[in-house]
Amino acid sequence: ELGPYAHFMQKEIFEQPSAVANTLEMILNAKSISPNLFGNKAEEVFSRTSNVLILACGTSYHAGLVARHWLESVAGIPCNVEIASEYRYRNPLADQATLVVGISQSGETADTLAAISYAKKLGHQYSLAICNVPESALIRQADLCFLTHAGPEIGVASTKAFTTQLATLLLLAMVLAKMRHKLSTKDERQMIMALRHLPVALQHTLQIESQVKIWAKSFAQKRHALFLGRGVHYPIAMEGALKLKEISYIHAEAYAAGELKHGPLALVDNEMPVVAIAPNDQLIGKLKSNLQEVHARGGELYVFADADSQIMQSKNLHVIRLSEHAGILSPILHTIPLQLLAYHVALVKGTDVDKPRNLAKAVTVE
Ligand code: F6R
Repeated sequence: ELGPYAHFMQKEIFEQPSAVANTLEMILNAKSISPNLFGNKAEEVFSRTSNVLILACGTSYHAGLVARHWLESVAGIPCNVEIASEYRYRNPLADQATLVVGISQSGETADTLAAISYAKKLGHQYSLAICNVPESALIRQADLCFLTHAGPEIGVASTKAFTTQLATLLLLAMVLAKMRHKLSTKDERQMIMALRHLPVALQHTLQIESQVKIWAKSFAQKRHALFLGRGVHYPIAMEGALKLKEISYIHAEAYAAGELKHGPLALVDNEMPVVAIAPNDQLIGKLKSNLQEVHARGGELYVFADADSQIMQSKNLHVIRLSEHAGILSPILHTIPLQLLAYHVALVKGTDVDKPRNLAKAVTVE
């Protein structure tokens, strides 16, 4: 089953180009997108949607945090994202025009299922499931659904489920944008072209594995790490930190880079590696001054830049460059090196990569 791979996690990381291609299959040959991608009733439901509430846990929650940026910037639609186990025990206000979106690889996560039922009970009318398992409880429960076609995910640490969720969520933002007359035909074509290119771009990005392996050796000696990102890449930093914690048992924390000087900068010394997600987007200038603050205090930086980010390697500043700058798809591509880093650190440490201690694949109890 594993083929040439040592673990399911490695196999699943390398399956991402095909997992994303399979998930996007319906649109890869199309000239335009339609709400029907999300089910027959989607057009009617989306026409009544004026804001979105995303409920999920863990890695799926991080996908939701990325989606918020896309829903706001592409579709101009307000979006809240909440950890399912928090939402279900609050007294939030409900609104009929809210589309509740549940994101889950397994479709069996107890808190996510309960949070969506609770949202309905409070008066939210419609729900959409983004899920990887067709016969799951989440799919049965939701009004609309979109199946990510990642294929079975065996490794406990979620990898290909996450990138297929992201591709799906961008599609959702595009569909809602189109229905709200926020997407010109030209932009729609361009975004479809970019999505069509995504599997190839993922394939190229996977080639940085050998460079990441070298970093993994020094990481494996550390007890803590900080992950920094800004904007849409902040949730990617959170996902990178979660992967490292989960399978290599190194304590890792993600911060929005602008928060550094509000506290965590005090932790920076030469024992604390700082990983930065640094694509050449509109926030690169701001991020660079945050990196400078770390550098000036003797911190060791590990930067994932892209072809266009003007960040130069120097003492205590290591750079790995992704081969292209992917525009709106950048958070999807920047996930790959972080998965690879966690994987290779775990290999050096000799942990049980596919079955990390204390964790279960589907969290079906609270
Ligand atoms: C992390 C991980 C978990 C899951 C979370 C939600 O690698 O796998 O954080 O993402 O338990 O699971 P699903 O997506 O099945 O609801």
